[in-house]
Amino acid sequence: MAKITLSVIKADVGSIGGHIKPSDEMIDAVKRYIKNKGKGIFIDFYVGYTGDDIAILSTHKKGVLNSKVHKLCWDAFLEAAKIAKKQGLYGAGQDLLKSSFSGNVKGMGPAVAEMEIEERPAEPFLFFAADKTEPGAFNLPLYLSFCDPMYTAGFILSPVLKQGFTFVIMDVAYTKADKIIKLNSPEEIYDIAALLRDNGRFVVESIWSRATGEQVVSASTTRLHNIAGKYVGKDDPVMLVRTQKNFPATGEILCPYAIGHYVAGFMRGSHAGPLMPVKKNSSISFFDGPPVVSCLAFSVRNGKLTGPVDVFDHPYWDYVRNKVAKKAEEIRRQGFSGQAMLPMTELEYTGVVETLKKLEKRFTIRKK
Ligand code: F6R
Ligand code: MG
Ligand code: MG
Repeated sequence: MAKITLSVIKADVGSIGGHIKPSDEMIDAVKRYIKNKGKGIFIDFYVGYTGDDIAILSTHKKGVLNSKVHKLCWDAFLEAAKIAKKQGLYGAGQDLLKSSFSGNVKGMGPAVAEMEIEERPAEPFLFFAADKTEPGAFNLPLYLSFCDPMYTAGFILSPVLKQGFTFVIMDVAYTKADKIIKLNSPEEIYDIAALLRDNGRFVVESIWSRATGEQVVSASTTRLHNIAGKYVGKDDPVMLVRTQKNFPATGEILCPYAIGHYVAGFMRGSHAGPLMPVKKNSSISFFDGPPVVSCLAFSVRNGKLTGPVDVFDHPYWDYVRNKVAKKAEEIRRQGFSGQAMLPMTELEYTGVVETLKKLEKRFTIRKK
């Protein structure tokens, strides 16, 4: 079987009415650009959006981190940014140019998830995109799907799955280079959990099958890979997950998204909110959120995509969305207090820090 590469590159290059969704004209511009200029580079592609982020999913034979592939997507985003500017949209070009202001102005730019695979005769995979959150949002779902038989029945029922998976986890607080650790399930699941509980610091970069050596997951970790050691804001993540046979089934990968676990992000990238599974091309609303995740299922053969199937567009997930909305409402009732707003180090805006500095001068030490 031929080797092919699956690539997702996504960026926020402008939205209608706030940070909520790109315009149809922007999406069309990206599609048109890729269709015209992508000949000879891409075998196939899909363009969609989740909240204010446009994602380009592609298949090709050029391997990961290929400059032609990345440049093509970058230029397509530039085209969309031009239209956003012309339409007077908010945050036009924000992930590409460092001139337009928002909480993410010093962000890394586009997020990337790629993997080069030996195509199986039947190759199903899932493409996740999340908005108003951070890469660590995938930590818990990945832990549950790849370590826990309560979620993945395959650990009990399939002798192949039972051999476990290797997690590659990045310490995103280290900014000089990639700092990674490899840990094996099932023997080291407590160590994996000890890292993955800290979504802001340790992020799953990839997961590999121990039975076959194949890569199963690739996730973007760009967010805290800070420029010059400085905090630069949330970077909404994307992820690719291959499924079935020697890997968890599609439904086993989806199961944990029924939790609506609390993640960092939401309004001004500075609050905790439940991660809501949404339909494809969903916008953002309540309190600039809630944090959302979309998931599209594809099959690929010789690089040709069939799909997508919108897996969260199903009555079951309507029920989940209602539950998650309740969780969002609950935490929003306490406004800025305690766990509802993120700790100082994670805030996307500097207002509080400045206020505290000013107030510090007004504190007095009472004499005994
Ligand atoms: C969060 C986000 C939004 C903005 C908020 C204020 O990641 O994108 O919640 O932070 O709408 O945006 P500005 O500061 O651009 O007015
Ligand atoms: Mg944005
Ligand atoms: Mg976004």
